[in-house]
Amino acid sequence: MHEFNYRGDTLCCENVPLPDIIKEHPTPFYLYSHKTLVDHFNKIKAAFKELNPLICFSMKSNSNLNVCKALVAEGAGLDIVSGGELYKALKAGCPADRLVYASVGKTESEIEYAIRKNIFAFNVESVPELIMIDSVARRLARQPRVALRLNPDVKADTHDYITTGTKEKKFGIDFKTAEDIFDNTNKYSNVSIKGIHAHIGSQITNTEPFAVAIRKILDFIEKSNIVIEWLNIGGGFGIDYGVEKARTAEDFAAKIIPLLSDKKFKLVLEPGRFIAGAAGILVCKVLYVKATRSGKKFAIVDAGMNDLIRPSLYNAHHEILSVVKLRSKPEKYDIVGPICESGDFLALDREFPGIVAGGYLAVMSAGAYGFVMSSNYNSRPRSSELMVINGGVNVVRAAETYRDLIRGEKILKEFK
Ligand SMILES: Cc1ncc(COP(=O)(O)O)c(C=O)c1O
Repeated sequence: MHEFNYRGDTLCCENVPLPDIIKEHPTPFYLYSHKTLVDHFNKIKAAFKELNPLICFSMKSNSNLNVCKALVAEGAGLDIVSGGELYKALKAGCPADRLVYASVGKTESEIEYAIRKNIFAFNVESVPELIMIDSVARRLARQPRVALRLNPDVKADTHDYITTGTKEKKFGIDFKTAEDIFDNTNKYSNVSIKGIHAHIGSQITNTEPFAVAIRKILDFIEKSNIVIEWLNIGGGFGIDYGVEKARTAEDFAAKIIPLLSDKKFKLVLEPGRFIAGAAGILVCKVLYVKATRSGKKFAIVDAGMNDLIRPSLYNAHHEILSVVKLRSKPEKYDIVGPICESGDFLALDREFPGIVAGGYLAVMSAGAYGFVMSSNYNSRPRSSELMVINGGVNVVRAAETYRDLIRGEKILKEFK
């Protein structure tokens, strides 16, 4: 459930009518519901209560400082994947001992930064990376905590680009290599290898792949006689974008808890999409309705693939609602952006009751992997981000300006 609902014919966010917000804030903009965000975090917390996990919100899905702060205030940790995310996580006030750091390409300086900040753990993705962390730790005379990210070779039943736990993917370490590492921890005496991590993919709407991966990992732990302090099973809980049958937090918990309830180690989770996805929408304006002689109709809106790339990149479906309900006869539209690419669309062949120029649309479930994946392509300033909290509408990131587009660029003396 989320807090974007019609009151009469008008779409509202936590009862604030969108037309009122649009009057004050130019489109396109992302709009987050604080209540929905916190509610989804607490759904996972409640469902997994029996295991009292550390829930590290995956900030790659939405790294707005206010989004992170809202979750940290509820007790969340953060899952980070870069020095930049570490910087933002600390700015959001997340205690360092609630930070876990994955990524196949951590640089030496990022590793040093994370060791100095004493994060909870690195999720290590390869032997060379482990050697690098060990050598930086030796230089700094520290002993960071490490989890080996296993690649359990489990199909996640999701888009290939967001499948991460099969053996042909770049992520994680195979069981045999992991066993060698655990057998030779003396080679890495500057790190404390006390955890196991796995993340098999994102937008997984079936509970079974999680169980398969966990069973394989438990089997590995038992056979190799390893003692660990925590198991991090990553993120990946899928959500309903309007076409799939998503599972509830209880569904995921019901599958996972029985496998882990008698274990001594702590559970860590890294959900991103499940928490932030339904908590945000992208609001845009219909600029033109263009009918072609071939019978196609395009609704051209002021948000493009630079604002929300998921439809173009993954062919992802997002439900699209009219801010004020339309009543005319439904027709088929391609809802497209202004970018100079045919791949720039928000929806193709979508039945919609008579879209009119000047109207406003809401792209639903855009709170995760929305703004964070936006870009300046076609020299378009990135949109603002707004949050409704306690009935008030707040700008949590100002829209970029044209000046922002040239920030950092230097004119060569040859062109002066
Ligand atoms: C290591 C890791 N953990 C957690 C996540 C979050 O996944 P999701 O947003 O599907 O929960 C990701 C996303 O790809 C990831 O790579």
